[in-house]
Amino acid sequence: MEGYTTANFQVAENFRIKYLGTKGIVKSMMAEMKNIPAEKRKEFGQVMNDFKVFAEAKYETLKEINSNQQSGSGIQMDLSLPGDSLIPGSRHPITLMRNRIVSIFQRLGFSVADGPEIEDDWHNFTALNISEHHPARDMQDTFYIQGHNSNSTEWLLRTHTSNVQIREMEKTRQPDGKAKLPIRIICPGRVFRNETVSARSHCFFHQVEGLYIDENVSFADLKQTLYFFAQEMYGKDIKPRFRPSYFPFTEPSAEMDITCFICGGKGCRICKQTGWVEILGCGMVHPKVLENCGIDSNKYTGFAFGMGIERPAMLLYGVNDIRLFSENDVRFLRQFTSVT
Ligand code: DAH
Repeated sequence: MEGYTTANFQVAENFRIKYLGTKGIVKSMMAEMKNIPAEKRKEFGQVMNDFKVFAEAKYETLKEINSNQQSGSGIQMDLSLPGDSLIPGSRHPITLMRNRIVSIFQRLGFSVADGPEIEDDWHNFTALNISEHHPARDMQDTFYIQGHNSNSTEWLLRTHTSNVQIREMEKTRQPDGKAKLPIRIICPGRVFRNETVSARSHCFFHQVEGLYIDENVSFADLKQTLYFFAQEMYGKDIKPRFRPSYFPFTEPSAEMDITCFICGGKGCRICKQTGWVEILGCGMVHPKVLENCGIDSNKYTGFAFGMGIERPAMLLYGVNDIRLFSENDVRFLRQFTSVT
């Protein structure tokens, strides 16, 4: 700062010496007055005076810039300099996608719930009816955390957002042992799996989990809710299809497909010529899962579903490599500036 103001002071001083000093231009021009023919002298004096006033004003301005900078106000007086262009920020495409999914369910009365990414075995597996030797444990290659198994609790990075189902169901337990229901939640979050990173899969990605538990919740409620969601998300023209599937925590279980929103069901590269794309897994909450959380499975029923965020984001935004989502390359992120 010191050097900067000194330099500016020097600019003002140099200007003064050059134009207004005792040997400066104004003085030496004035000295020419005697050589000017008498009839032109008045005009010459006028011009010289204007010039002197102009030079004095300019000198005052230069001094002012200097003192502003010295007092720290930092005012830039050269208004002809081009301004700094502002690069607008943008939301991350995963955030955009998550917000879209969440807002559709919020309109149906679901509220957002959150759960830990570092989880214990009970909430990620056991309470979800995935017992110790259940093959489903191998379906989701798990990152275990070493050195955290105090009280013989095994800690891990959650492999899905289904852990939040358990935590929310456990929260409904009242002091008298009964559960306070209904539950109607949506839980977006990050999950981790020990997978080789490639263009199509990553060791961490995002899911959205949904859970609705009350008296008389049926499979028809599940189908209608998810059909409404798919239409809001992918367009009114899509058709749904529910295929029987297997998840340990739901019975019956299904996978939901919709007619391909790229080709409209005719068959294309995205839907591998089938006309259908899978969008989520779902089912009726298994009675054992309800009982594990202290909810009377004779009185209450519910449905649950889970979907990934990266895959639909890749399809909708035309992203061909999942790694782009986590590399923070601004050339990629800036492309979403105008997406809401
Ligand atoms: N947790 C499953 C997964 O990670 C997704 C899922 C399927 C969640 C069915 C659910 C469900 O709640 O009912 O692949």
